[in-house]
Amino acid sequence: MSLRTSYTLLAPVYDAIVSSATRPFRRISLAALESPTASQQILLAGIGSGLDIPELPIGPCYVGIDLTPAMLWRAQRRNTQLNQTLLHCGDVHQLPYADNSFDTVLMHLILAVVPDSHAALREAVRVLKPGGHLHIVDKFLRPGERAWGRRLVNHVLRHIATRTDVVFEDLHARQPQLQLLHDQPLDPTGWFRFIRLQKIPLSEEKRAS
Ligand SMILES: C[S@@+](CC[C@H](N)C(=O)[O-])C[C@H]1O[C@@H](n2cnc3c(N)ncnc32)[C@H](O)[C@@H]1O
Repeated sequence: MSLRTSYTLLAPVYDAIVSSATRPFRRISLAALESPTASQQILLAGIGSGLDIPELPIGPCYVGIDLTPAMLWRAQRRNTQLNQTLLHCGDVHQLPYADNSFDTVLMHLILAVVPDSHAALREAVRVLKPGGHLHIVDKFLRPGERAWGRRLVNHVLRHIATRTDVVFEDLHARQPQLQLLHDQPLDPTGWFRFIRLQKIPLSEEKRAS
């Protein structure tokens, strides 16, 4: 089954399952947005049913992208006159946006969902402006963590909802342009984390090369 098919089937019950458990997580990530202004462009990659939309600070221009029309339809219903998120149907492995076009990219529960997390992160870095920020909320194994149970269920779950075997440090190692600013466990086991990174500003990139 493709993820688009499974999320089409999950869409009617998604909010009931996910909303209250993840609200504190998304609030922590959104509270870390730096002085949001009207000139800022913020991308919500894998926006889903738009659970972030009511929590977004008013001001910046928000763009949301998701693979599943049934999820986007729900996100559209969360748009208000005051805060409109522009919604696109598309794939986070191949974002339809120019290089260096967003001040911030939010990846809430998407990086450890998609089949190719490396490609999704590479795309997020590509569309981020130098000096821009990336906020990740997701579940990650620690390097070397055995977690047999999670690795076992991953064989089934990855086809219907999410991967459970992703090690953030492996993804980060392949994106040297990303500087780690903050890494915070969000639950007592530390499986869910809020990770904030910055794409190295151009001036520093030149100095490093
Ligand atoms: C777990 S939900 C997270 C939704 C939302 N970010 C949230 O925090 O509630 C995962 C979302 O990723 C979307 N998705 C899965 N694969 C995708 C892809 N390749 N490109 C874009 N969206 C994708 C699904 O349609 C679903 O809406």
